[in-house]
Amino acid sequence: MKNKIIIAPSILSSDFSKLGEEIKAIDNAGADYIHMDVMDGNFVPNLTFGVPVIKSIRKYTDLPFDVHLMIEKPERYIEEYANAGADIITIHSESTIHLHRTIHQVKNSGKKVGVSLNPSTPVDVLKYIIEDLDMVLVMSVNPGFGGQKFIESTIEKIKDIKKLRSNIDIEIDGGITDITIKRCIDAGANIFVAGSYIFSGNYSERINKLREINL
Ligand code: DX5
Ligand code: ZN
Repeated sequence: MKNKIIIAPSILSSDFSKLGEEIKAIDNAGADYIHMDVMDGNFVPNLTFGVPVIKSIRKYTDLPFDVHLMIEKPERYIEEYANAGADIITIHSESTIHLHRTIHQVKNSGKKVGVSLNPSTPVDVLKYIIEDLDMVLVMSVNPGFGGQKFIESTIEKIKDIKKLRSNIDIEIDGGITDITIKRCIDAGANIFVAGSYIFSGNYSERINKLREINL
């Protein structure tokens, strides 16, 4: 039997003027996680939302909040995101000097921890920390915006991470569609973020279409 895949719609592509309703709608459409892109206009050239928004939408669903921090020095805010209702907190390896310390800060907050790599970041940075992680988030576009084109070298990167640790959860983020998801599944990824693909169509049809690729 094939491994289950997890679909994590990114609310970056949702209608922010009715965020609570959007979250309920993707929950009803069969999402597994809610992916939240926190951007600080510094680590990435875009600014989105942070702790107060996450706190305010926590009541709309029981699904896990998969919080992707694209912020400089995330160690300053880990406890705040944990208290706001995050279930998984992912930090970028490029955003903190003390990656090991920040990983353990997340673990000590009682939440699952992920580390994300930009497209140009080699997997070597994972070598001494991968056993401490719940998940690796591979950026398949340069972080900052939805609707970008999938970067092909992601496939090789997924395979390289599998070689480091075969049972690690691998999440792919950026340019995921019913076409690009297939090669990522074949390479060994099991969690898929999709923003523009899901939110530009019927939510349940699009989520089902992504799942069907794995049947
Ligand atoms: C980009 C974000 C993604 C984004 C993906 O920095 O991390 O989660 O929402 O959007 P799509 O699926 O449209 O590429
Ligand atoms: Zn993301």
